[in-house]
Amino acid sequence: MDKIVFALPGNEELAKKIAAHLNCSLGSFAYHRFPDEESYIRLESDVSGKEVILACTLDRPDTKFLQLYFLSEIIRDAGADKITLVSPYLSYMRQDKKFNPGECITSEHFANLLSSFVDELITVDPHLHRINSLESIYPIPTKVFHSSAHISKWIKENVEHPVLIGPDMESKQWVGEVAKEAGAPYTVLSKIRTGDKKVKVSIPQIHKYISKYTPVIVDDIISTAATMIRTIEHLQEEGSIPPVCIGIHAVFSGMAYNDLQKSGPSKIITCNTIPHISNGIDLNSGIANLLK
Ligand code: R5P
Repeated sequence: MDKIVFALPGNEELAKKIAAHLNCSLGSFAYHRFPDEESYIRLESDVSGKEVILACTLDRPDTKFLQLYFLSEIIRDAGADKITLVSPYLSYMRQDKKFNPGECITSEHFANLLSSFVDELITVDPHLHRINSLESIYPIPTKVFHSSAHISKWIKENVEHPVLIGPDMESKQWVGEVAKEAGAPYTVLSKIRTGDKKVKVSIPQIHKYISKYTPVIVDDIISTAATMIRTIEHLQEEGSIPPVCIGIHAVFSGMAYNDLQKSGPSKIITCNTIPHISNGIDLNSGIANLLK
């Protein structure tokens, strides 16, 4: 089946990489935002009988979602055979439980909504905490690219005597894998979050490592950066050298990046699942390779 790739705004690099990998063309559409902030979209490429690949990372999803939905519907209406969404950051994966009466498990509703207008989803290391796999909430086929080999390669090439620090018990397996590939020891935080920015952490066994190793804090998502900042403060109290901070998904809400910089890490580095100044680990080729 012929293929064509569309970049939603901000996803141009990824779309180009996918189009080059598939040896297919890039599609285009006109987008206009009306003064009342509603969207206007007009399809400019022929998609009839083709598989359409949409590159659209989904941080800040509430503003991106309608645009993605409208474009998908127009593409479907124009006769596309299949729509594959490549969304390196998949949002709404953290609200995976009702903590209080009246709350909503948004991860499930978001999964159903997205699956109602795209046929397949490709993403990078989704936040799987209480949900074991994407298949358990996504009714459409999904493929996941894992960043661990790229992160461990970066650590091997850039950090001397690293000890990895993971964000929580749920991350143990993932952090353990990165540590194994990097040939480094690891530990995971014991963490309690009581509010958006209220996080308390302690680092088991940190005394074993403090004088001989460079701490590398690795997390899947950096959002408010509270997890990273509290961990850095804790390391400082223990007399550690400044740590390296690595995140897969550079969400960085509000002033989070500035706040994290000010807290004193030696380096902040992220994968390019969300375009950000801290991106230093390129996953686009790996993501493109998942498409055939
Ligand atoms: C939580 O389970 C995740 O692995 C991250 O630790 C969390 O999302 C980080 O958020 P923040 O940057 O707001 O502390």
